[in-house]
Amino acid sequence: MKVGVFDSGIGGLTVVKSLLEHQLFEEIIYFGDTARVPYGIKDKNTIIRYAIEAVEFFKNFKLDLIIVACNTVSAYALDEMRETSSCPVIGVVEAGILATKNSISDKDSNILILGTKATVKSKAYELGLSKLGFKNLQAKATGLLVPIVEEEIYSGEIINSTFEHYFKELTIPHAVILGCTHFPLLSDALQTYFGKETLLIHSGDAIVEQLEKEFVFKTKYKNPQLQFFASENPEALRNIAKKWLSL
Ligand code: DGL
Repeated sequence: MKVGVFDSGIGGLTVVKSLLEHQLFEEIIYFGDTARVPYGIKDKNTIIRYAIEAVEFFKNFKLDLIIVACNTVSAYALDEMRETSSCPVIGVVEAGILATKNSISDKDSNILILGTKATVKSKAYELGLSKLGFKNLQAKATGLLVPIVEEEIYSGEIINSTFEHYFKELTIPHAVILGCTHFPLLSDALQTYFGKETLLIHSGDAIVEQLEKEFVFKTKYKNPQLQFFASENPEALRNIAKKWLSL
């Protein structure tokens, strides 16, 4: 299978990491819209327009599947992408909701959703989770963590004070949905902050869980063909990919 992975920038590489760990695809084509990132502060119509343009970009590659690694795009533009794409399109929000359902049986569990301003505004996670019976949901826009991760800061003083800024009033959640591509890189710091009893739900792992449920993967691909594209400075994106994915 040949898959396209779309993100607003570099963050979606965390999803590629999960795909590579599970060796699901023969060919992965990544597109990050680095010229127009961040999407998380943009409005719905702009996000949809950019997402449709990404579908157009992928048309050159005759893909079998498009994975939307970006939570913000998954929250707003999946239907529109599906309408214009000739291959299936799946997104991390649906996957994250499914993973939450599969890993938490107590519907009274206190679940904290972290994401960009746009993702939180969409209420996409809350709508999906409350349909499944979850009652105790809280979402927090934590966009400041995005540029901090892009600075490759994953722990220490800046992270701790940003966590304090966002989380000091909250009761310790049973689970945290990492509803932004960048947040898996803060898993260790978040786990230390909330304690080891708190379950972290990672979009990349959630997508793999969904893929393994919906498709039959007969072969493992240890060395898939990888191509990285960006709307601006693709070299910078390729360098980060080398570092984050240990290529
Ligand atoms: N990729 C975005 C997301 O997962 C975060 C960065 C942005 O705001 O574009 O929501």
